[in-house]
Amino acid sequence: MKKLTIINVICLGICFFVAVKGETETDDSSSKTSVVTPQVQPVYIKAGDPLELTCIQDDGLTVEWLKDRSEVDTSDSGFFTTQRKEVEGGGKIESTLKKTNTTAEDEGVYTCQVGSNPEQVYNLKVFVFTLNPQHGNVKKDKDDAVLGCEIGDNTAVMESELIWSRNGVVIQDTPKRYSISTENNTLTVFRATEGDEGEYVCALNLNNGAHFNATVYLYMAPQVHHFQKSKNVIQGDPLHLECKAFGYPVPSISWLKGDMPLDTSDDRVKLSNYTTEQGVLLINATLRIENLDFPDRADYVCLASDGGLTNNGTILVRVKDKLAALWPFLGICAEVTILCVIIFIYEKRRAKKMELEEQQEEADHLTNSHAHRGNDEIRQRK
Ligand SMILES: *[C@@H]1O[C@H](CO)[C@@H](O)[C@H](O)[C@H]1NC(C)=O
Ligand SMILES: *[C@@H]1O[C@H](CO)[C@@H](O)[C@H](O)[C@H]1NC(C)=O
Ligand SMILES: *[C@@H]1O[C@H](CO)[C@@H](O)[C@H](O)[C@H]1NC(C)=O
Ligand SMILES: *[C@@H]1O[C@H](CO)[C@@H](O)[C@H](O)[C@H]1NC(C)=O
Ligand SMILES: *[C@@H]1O[C@H](CO)[C@@H](O)[C@H](O)[C@H]1NC(C)=O
Ligand SMILES: *[C@@H]1O[C@H](CO)[C@@H](O)[C@H](O)[C@H]1NC(C)=O
Repeated sequence: MKKLTIINVICLGICFFVAVKGETETDDSSSKTSVVTPQVQPVYIKAGDPLELTCIQDDGLTVEWLKDRSEVDTSDSGFFTTQRKEVEGGGKIESTLKKTNTTAEDEGVYTCQVGSNPEQVYNLKVFVFTLNPQHGNVKKDKDDAVLGCEIGDNTAVMESELIWSRNGVVIQDTPKRYSISTENNTLTVFRATEGDEGEYVCALNLNNGAHFNATVYLYMAPQVHHFQKSKNVIQGDPLHLECKAFGYPVPSISWLKGDMPLDTSDDRVKLSNYTTEQGVLLINATLRIENLDFPDRADYVCLASDGGLTNNGTILVRVKDKLAALWPFLGICAEVTILCVIIFIYEKRRAKKMELEEQQEEADHLTNSHAHRGNDEIRQRK
């Protein structure tokens, strides 16, 4: 008796499970419709993403799509259906309802009705939410940037988490660097500077496992790392300048000589690309002028522009005589030579003078001693 009840309970359980399963998805015993996709329901769709619902069945019957119990208008609403027949599969028909650009109005209950059998009705609940990127804009170097991902008000979506990442690396809340607000769905980049500009991704992970993402840009006005004020180049030597600019969109670079565009038709002038330390390619940001001559003396300006805003770096290039470096050296040589000559002459003259003096002294000494002797003799004679 006890055993029987246990079996009964198990049987009931299985029957109940099959019945519930049959209601929402498939019931192979009573119906031949096998799959309705997506299988995870309700279906969440980000506004702007494509909507695609599929009913696969083996009956060879036509499928009708309903939205909120009325027929889906495929004439001008953006909806269209496709049917695919698999002949080898024994009359399997795959019917898909599609829309390329889902909007908020597309939210609702969709029904796939197979033939006219009221039992073969399959419902799909579709929620449409918005994930609006709020781009950041840095006008001045080291200003804070705020990026946002606004989630359209949908209670089901509220139970979710928003993850920020950049180049595939998840961004963590980091003091003085990044601040993530779960309240406002924002990411603040403190003191945004070169390397912070560009693409960020916010990913919305729903608790049903679905995830969506949006690209958010940190726009940055063009900036140029300043050159030194001026530079001396020796006549005949090349001039080599690199314009280290940054910004987003990546600025375009042009060069001016004074306030006129640099004449790049001159064979000595060559522009080439420059890759910044951050790995950003700047087209035409390297300037090289071979064989510099006096008329090349000028202010050279590298102008970074994003199409609207500009920033520039300016350097005064002076051209020095080829011998300019030699002159001071020659001057020193001449000075040293003259000094040597002077010292030499002086020394020579001094030596001569001393010789003369010595001779004189000797002579004096001799006469003196004679005089002494004379005195002695005189005294002795006394
Ligand atoms: C999608 O639809 C929205 C609202 O009608 C529209 O603003 C947007 O430009 C459309 N997007 C595309 C890619 O067609
Ligand atoms: C969220 O935004 C409000 C209004 O702009 C602001 O007052 C609040 O400080 C923000 N919260 C965070 C955590 O950033
Ligand atoms: C964003 O979503 C697309 C499509 O779902 C996916 O291919 C891509 O890897 C996602 N990117 C990130 C950073 O999660
Ligand atoms: C600079 O880069 C552009 C774009 O990649 C390329 O087309 C061009 O050939 C490059 N110029 C030089 C001088 O390498
Ligand atoms: C780069 O400079 C060359 C002249 O050297 C010019 O023809 C070309 O248009 C420039 N490219 C860009 C992207 O400014
Ligand atoms: C370069 O920048 C300086 C300072 O912002 C500005 O005064 C000057 O007009 C700019 N030059 C050009 C050619 O844009």
